[in-house]
Amino acid sequence: MGRKKIALIGGGQIGGILAMICAEKELGDVVMIDLPQMEGTVKGKMLDLMASRPHDGYDVELTGSGDFAALKGADIVLITAGVPRKPGMTRDDLTEINLKVMKSVAESIKTHAPNAFVVLTTNPLDAMVYAFHKFTGFPKNQIVGMAGSLDTARFKTFLAMETGLSVQDVSALVMGGHGPTMIPLIRTATIGGVPITDLLSAEKIEEIAERTREAGTEIVQLLGNGSAFYSPAAAVVEMAEAYLKDKKRVIPSAALCEGEYGIDGYFMGVPCVIGAGGIEKILEFELTPEEQNLLETTLNAVKTTVAETGI
Ligand code: APR
Repeated sequence: MGRKKIALIGGGQIGGILAMICAEKELGDVVMIDLPQMEGTVKGKMLDLMASRPHDGYDVELTGSGDFAALKGADIVLITAGVPRKPGMTRDDLTEINLKVMKSVAESIKTHAPNAFVVLTTNPLDAMVYAFHKFTGFPKNQIVGMAGSLDTARFKTFLAMETGLSVQDVSALVMGGHGPTMIPLIRTATIGGVPITDLLSAEKIEEIAERTREAGTEIVQLLGNGSAFYSPAAAVVEMAEAYLKDKKRVIPSAALCEGEYGIDGYFMGVPCVIGAGGIEKILEFELTPEEQNLLETTLNAVKTTVAETGI
């Protein structure tokens, strides 16, 4: 059996880190695809990465291309093509430009890799994954948006930073849309099994929840010229690895809900089982009335974002 083939569409900031982590984990051969005028850049990046392999001795092939035909044979496609935001912009400000990118990328995947599992990162995430599904008509288990894994990782990070405890022992769940209405579910957060409500004050926990909701914006403001890339790449790899190794991981992801949590016809952050079948299942549990209200609010925000695409 040969190695798996991982196709990256978009060889910018996130794409570059994605290639590096996928290679270091030996998840499969990686092809990075970008616009024809960017072919030299992505070929250069991949050749550079090829030469980093002897240090750790990982054996995977890394190639770059400006031709979407290079998608052929891909087991998984990770999309980061499009424009990131700059200070002062919301994710929704990217809708018009990134929608055009999604349309052309969707056509290419339909032509060259119609059976690949597809993970999208392009913002505004909830609208882009919705549009991609409409453009391709792929089955719902084959398409997912990366948001919840990142938002949850940010929540865990801030909890670990505040308590000074290992990030490895933090467990938590963030549901909802990829924007300021996302829901860091306080009652799911534990450190080594101990509820965070026993470790931190209610005020501190609320501060952390608010920082989580605005974490992407905090980074955009600090960077000054682009958006987060290390953490989004790591979050995508977590999902890709679950699929490629059939791990049945439970990862919050933007999946198409058809009745789950009372959501119908929208992609939104919910706990998903990811394995060889892609999005194999959405796990459901009962929300409190207060959480249910927050879910309504985030669903309305997702609907507004989607409506802006005009699809
Ligand atoms: N096909 C292929 N690649 C494209 C296309 C296209 N139609 N349009 C743009 N690209 C490429 C660009 O040439 C660039 O190399 O996508 C890449 C995007 O890289 P960056 O500008 O560095 O953006 P990045 O930080 O990686 O973020 C990508 O993910 O998190 C989201 O908001 C973020 O929408 C943004 C996306």
